[in-house]
Amino acid sequence: MRMKTLQRPDLSVSIGRLRLNNPVMVASGTFGYGQEFEDFMDLNQLGAVIPKGISLDPMPGNPPPRIFETDGGMLNSIGLQNPGLRIFIKEKLPYLRKLKTELIINFFGNTQKEYVRLAGALDGVAGISALEMNVSCPNVKCGGIVFGSDPKMTYRLVSAVRKATALPLIVKLSPNVTDITATARGAEEGGADAVSLVNTFKAMAINIYSRKPELGNVFGGLSGPAIKPIAVRMVWEVYRAVKIPVIGIGGIVKAEDAIEFILAGASAVQIGTANLINPGAALEVAEGIKKYLLRTKTPRIRDLIGMFEI
Ligand SMILES: Cc1cc2nc3c(=O)[nH]c(=O)nc-3n(C[C@H](O)[C@H](O)[C@H](O)COP(=O)(O)O)c2cc1C
Repeated sequence: MRMKTLQRPDLSVSIGRLRLNNPVMVASGTFGYGQEFEDFMDLNQLGAVIPKGISLDPMPGNPPPRIFETDGGMLNSIGLQNPGLRIFIKEKLPYLRKLKTELIINFFGNTQKEYVRLAGALDGVAGISALEMNVSCPNVKCGGIVFGSDPKMTYRLVSAVRKATALPLIVKLSPNVTDITATARGAEEGGADAVSLVNTFKAMAINIYSRKPELGNVFGGLSGPAIKPIAVRMVWEVYRAVKIPVIGIGGIVKAEDAIEFILAGASAVQIGTANLINPGAALEVAEGIKKYLLRTKTPRIRDLIGMFEI
């Protein structure tokens, strides 16, 4: 009996009432709408799929160039380009909802009203397991200040969205703050079922010959291995500050990275930039976690959550 347990370690985790077969999801914006990756892997083996973030209306995105490679990472200034809710539901969702894995919809608005309308509209749509709200967008009504940079604004926004949906609600936090535990608490008090962190770090790069920015938008978001140690630190801080589950994101390319996040307190992880380098990365991470559990004779991945020792 014991042998059997060790040969088939239990990779399942829970994010509130959302149950995942394994803790490895793909991060929004780095996995298209899922279908683009079907030739590289069995999508049903993923813990969850999170498609590119959607807004109420279509968004054209930022001027090119939108991607710039840096040492150990990349900058992107895609500008949340997406076809909008109506086209997403009509053209992308039919494929996604047929998958056997969990489907988490990442969304964002320019105003609180837009967030609430989107959450309400998605609430009644079949095939959606949970919502992930990206609070890293500028609130145009508050002079462009990012919703997720102020704990009170995060609280108010999450409270309003909470009333609009019965789906499990994950709030994706921005790392561009002095104290990420404050916005995490704001999300928790507002009624979030979980927080995911981190989104990208505001950054820029200069071409020294043209003396111009490398990105058309001047600023972009830094992601990839370069941000991992900061993201691990933030996950550990947030894990100790809130009672709701934490989802770890930032520079994960291999199983060891994911395990580090889990030990720091993440109940699950998301793979982002690594998908763009190796389209099979997410499933390789899940497979590597299984091997680690076997090697360390750990029957359940959830036994490792937050087991980091100082
Ligand atoms: C090209 C690109 C597009 C992204 N688009 C979104 C998005 O639409 N919504 C969102 O919440 N995060 C978006 N992100 C952030 C990622 O989901 C992730 O939080 C971040 O890249 C850090 O993880 P990583 O280092 O594994 O890439 C995007 C990231 C990249 C690189």
